[in-house]
Amino acid sequence: MIKKDDITHDLVETDTAQARPVKGLPTFRSRNSVAPRGEETTRSSMRRGLMKATGGNPDIAWNSLATITLDLAEVARHGLFPQAADHPVTAKFDILRTQMLQAMSEREWVRIAVTSPTHGCGKSLVAANLALAMGRLPSVRTVLVDLELRHPELAHMFGADVGPLGEMLTGEQPIESHVRRLGENLALVLNNQAIIGSAESLLSPETAETLAVLEQTLQPNVMIFDLPPALGSDDVLSILPLVDAVLLVADGTRTTADDIRACSHLIEGRSSLLGVVLNRASDLKQDRYRYSKKRG
Ligand SMILES: Nc1ncnc2c1ncn2[C@@H]1O[C@H](COP(=O)(O)OP(=O)(O)OP(=O)(O)O)[C@@H](O)[C@H]1O
Ligand SMILES: [Mg+2]
Repeated sequence: MIKKDDITHDLVETDTAQARPVKGLPTFRSRNSVAPRGEETTRSSMRRGLMKATGGNPDIAWNSLATITLDLAEVARHGLFPQAADHPVTAKFDILRTQMLQAMSEREWVRIAVTSPTHGCGKSLVAANLALAMGRLPSVRTVLVDLELRHPELAHMFGADVGPLGEMLTGEQPIESHVRRLGENLALVLNNQAIIGSAESLLSPETAETLAVLEQTLQPNVMIFDLPPALGSDDVLSILPLVDAVLLVADGTRTTADDIRACSHLIEGRSSLLGVVLNRASDLKQDRYRYSKKRG
């Protein structure tokens, strides 16, 4: 339940540094590469089922996705506001969305990872509301993926009935069996089962291929990945080579400057820092950004 809500955000200018190889990590295929025919396995072909069935036409692919309808009262209890009129905070996510789209289009970025230094800073809340804000722009196609494989939360927050994401990432289940379309232009890739060995899963070439095929099939303008915290495990390090940029969520009540610096060092040379969202901001001077849930 949202009680006291303040969010500020600041998209920082960063170098468009390309991800560079990290010593000791396996070499990935180029993220959008397609396996040569001879190498195509059953799983590989399972992944490409929707793309093949729709002739590579993203319009047909989006239309063919199973849809999901939200219980607005229930999602609001989890702090998600799909429509602009649902809560004043949507205005702030709309501003963040527009700033991000401008920065991303200049650099041709599509894949954005949302992380924070430590647990509970509001990553999932920000990733989900940002995806909903993107969804309010009819011209933008967005895919929200729950890659917090240890503690998947988004399915619960959206009230979505989905299976284990692990089966889609490995190619055991086809993409179309898992992805749900919300409205016309937001696709949700959620998860109902924690994955043991999450970093290994994020590092695996199979996951890289699944994400590449998902992107090729739906050709979204934006992919948002909800991730675990950046400090304390190697999950975020594992996925950084596969994303264009990182949106860092800081908790205004406890994230320190050292935390932000540590995350920034981690991202440097591997991806780019798109910006920092200050969640639970408590600076009253920032009143113009402040929002509170109206209570009856
Ligand atoms: N601005 C806010 N105002 C009120 N409650 C908030 C705010 N941001 C987050 N919360 C609440 O704090 C809790 C943690 O938020 P959330 O799950 O988004 O964090 P997280 O960083 O994704 O956590 P984890 O590291 O466990 O994945 C949730 O109950 C969420 O509703
Ligand atoms: Mg989370």
